[in-house]
Amino acid sequence: MDKDRGKRLAAEEAAKHVERGMTLGLGTGSTAAHFVDIMGVRVAEGWSLKGVPTSEETRRQAERLGIEIIEPDETTVIDLAVDGADEADPNLNLIKGGGAALLREKVVAHAAKKFIVIADKSKRVAALGAFPLPVEISPFGWALTVAAIRKTLAGQGFDKSELTLRAADGAAVKTDGGNLIIDCALARIDDPARLEKALNAIPGVMECGLFCAMTDMIIYGDEDGISIAAP
Ligand code: A5P
Repeated sequence: MDKDRGKRLAAEEAAKHVERGMTLGLGTGSTAAHFVDIMGVRVAEGWSLKGVPTSEETRRQAERLGIEIIEPDETTVIDLAVDGADEADPNLNLIKGGGAALLREKVVAHAAKKFIVIADKSKRVAALGAFPLPVEISPFGWALTVAAIRKTLAGQGFDKSELTLRAADGAAVKTDGGNLIIDCALARIDDPARLEKALNAIPGVMECGLFCAMTDMIIYGDEDGISIAAP
């Protein structure tokens, strides 16, 4: 399967929901990058659009394309947010955070009037959890927070979960906000909403990568076209 074509087709479909003058939440990752590219074309055609980026990487791309950047602190209105996902279930619950931008992505998606997810079809799963769940935590007392996550997971029935501090080139990965990411290998999450609530109640956890009951529409793409999942 040509995943990149699926990502592009999904992004093109999402672009049909954009109207002139909108303030857009701009997601992070290879699929969201297609959407940002298309918005760059709209701006070059003379459309007035503003973008609230969910990562420094997306900010750089949007700036390169001439999209006007709005800082999240400068607006309380986001008309539409479009972002990718690492996994999505039939109830439109998501795992996000593979690109370490989950906290900013969730703030923007939650604030948006409409949240559209775009993904190649390989992201569609019967149940979440094969993709290790990213949890963004404060660096302060991080080992204590990891111990608390482990305890909470055990209380939720995940006795043998494997927790890994995300690292690259021998150093802990830092998010754009200076936080750390703990990847939790859980295999299968039967009640994502309950787990989201439990993890987010731990002091030191900034956000977990479960996005439950937030998504208005998922546009899946593959080389043959798109399909839409909506509540
Ligand atoms: C970024 O933190 C993630 O939530 C991305 O949205 C997710 O990893 C999807 O990325 P791709 O579109 O590159 O698969």
